[in-house]
Amino acid sequence: MPSQKDFWNSTSTVSSYRRSAQLYPPEIRLLGLLRDRWPSLEMLDIGVGAGRTTAYFAELAKRYVANDFAANMVAQASQRFAGRWPHASFQQGDATRLDGIAGASFDLVLFSYNGIDCVDFDARRLALSEMKRVCRPGGWVVFSSHNFYTIPRHLRFQFHPHPRRLLEEASRHRTMRGANPPSEQLLKQDQALFVDGTAADLRYAYVKPDLQEQTLKQMGFNEVRLYSCLNGDEITGTRAYENEDMSWVYYFCAV
Ligand SMILES: C[S@@+](CC[C@H](N)C(=O)[O-])C[C@H]1O[C@@H](n2cnc3c(N)ncnc32)[C@H](O)[C@@H]1O
Repeated sequence: MPSQKDFWNSTSTVSSYRRSAQLYPPEIRLLGLLRDRWPSLEMLDIGVGAGRTTAYFAELAKRYVANDFAANMVAQASQRFAGRWPHASFQQGDATRLDGIAGASFDLVLFSYNGIDCVDFDARRLALSEMKRVCRPGGWVVFSSHNFYTIPRHLRFQFHPHPRRLLEEASRHRTMRGANPPSEQLLKQDQALFVDGTAADLRYAYVKPDLQEQTLKQMGFNEVRLYSCLNGDEITGTRAYENEDMSWVYYFCAV
């Protein structure tokens, strides 16, 4: 069975990310939040993949360093933007061991598009504390993560009127049910390593946003804000993230 790293390193995965270029609504919000700081801002873009976020953030930042644990992703991103900005660099690196990076050396540390969910819960904790370590006081650690409350939707059969789509859905549903415990059992937990069908039978870390927020506060972040992937709005209402359509949540954590 391939590991997460094998999956992200494969030619087909790299190729499917090759042209991705749009920012998601919470990332547009991030551009605005830091609007006065970009000219002096130093940014670490972890799990950059093929460079979806690079064109925006490297253009604005004073220094931009991107990493990814998949060597082929790093090669793709670096080739895509070769020579474009002298202050941008790409390197292979693992979020859970940022050993080569001195403490407090970046103003913004980003791990976008649920990359942090590729690792298990012990590694997630390590990654978050490493991200906090390399971020300066006054800076931001920002990442997105799958919303645990969407699990019932993934495990539910979704009827489709088109016969071919219906057959595909039956196959998807059978695979999901075979790979995961039932919804009722999962929903008694606060977090789970869940096969969501994104990549064969690879498991992703799904966490209840309330638990994630609490953990981040316990880690000593000064402020934690949650933003919806649906529209980039800050999630403020009680239990507003218990929305099956809110596939993932962005966490903005002030250091
Ligand atoms: C869903 S992709 C997102 C890629 C890119 N950020 C984007 O938004 O298009 C997740 C990325 O995180 C990387 N990744 C996963 N775990 C990692 C880790 N522990 N350290 C560094 N990168 C990691 C994967 O190789 C992959 O490129």
